[in-house]
Amino acid sequence: MTTVYLDGKFMPMSEAKISPMDRGFLFGDGVYEVIPSHSGKPVGFLQHMDRLKKNLAEIEIKVTMSDADWRLVAESLMAENGNGCLGIYIHVSRGADITRFHAYPEHIKPTIFAFAFDIPETPEPDKNTVKGYKVVSAEDMRWKRCHIKSTSLLGNVMHFQNGQERGVHETILYNRLNELTEASSCNVFIVKNEVVATPPLDNQLLPGVTRNMLIDILRKEAVLEIQERIINMAEVRSADEIWLTSSSRGVVPVVELDGKQVGNGNVGDIWQLAQALFSAHKFDY
Ligand code: PDD
Repeated sequence: MTTVYLDGKFMPMSEAKISPMDRGFLFGDGVYEVIPSHSGKPVGFLQHMDRLKKNLAEIEIKVTMSDADWRLVAESLMAENGNGCLGIYIHVSRGADITRFHAYPEHIKPTIFAFAFDIPETPEPDKNTVKGYKVVSAEDMRWKRCHIKSTSLLGNVMHFQNGQERGVHETILYNRLNELTEASSCNVFIVKNEVVATPPLDNQLLPGVTRNMLIDILRKEAVLEIQERIINMAEVRSADEIWLTSSSRGVVPVVELDGKQVGNGNVGDIWQLAQALFSAHKFDY
């Protein structure tokens, strides 16, 4: 895992250097993407590109790279780094200035960085072999622009760390109204009486590509009812199943929330069905 891309060039990671005056470093002033790829085939590439472009436009960073240019970068990183199960990380910061001033400087060039890292293989859709996650919950203490995939991730990092210190895999988050938002690095779904639900998109959560693909697949297959709606934490606590979704982890079943078992404490049948459909269709995106 050593070859990275920085500002138009591929190089060993040890040779990739950026300025300490880079606004990504000083302010977390940038956006990023993580694109999963299995056996050399990216998943949801164009959806990741669309989100990247939207995010860049929202924070007014101009990048001249086309989807095809990004695709070439991703493919080179896959070829250089083994073509197994990889996350392609793409990071665009506003760039380096000569001074530290909060306003967007006019004449600096964005810093563009990309590298590949190993992600887990997609699990078999088998509820008896997959390992369910344990999670805790906490009030969402992040900012009010969680729809932007910002590199300013300290709020997420602190929530994730809280979970690590409590010996679990993730922290799921709720707002002041006790409504589910998302998790520190994933979106969240619940299942009750075979109905699947996930919070609607707004400024409180990231529009996850995996979330979007899963909803689309389940709707097209029409075997389960799927709802995007406000979900309160009482519903989360009494759900039959809870799932987390993200590009690096896919669709992950949760078996324990705040020390209490989810449903009957085992991975559920609906997860197994959803995972089978997700595995069958993920390369359609
Ligand atoms: N995390 N919500 C948050 C806060 C996230 O950080 C992520 C992804 C998601 C899921 O989005 P997607 O399905 O597009 O990956 C939801 C990435 C993988 C990360 O930061 O590593």
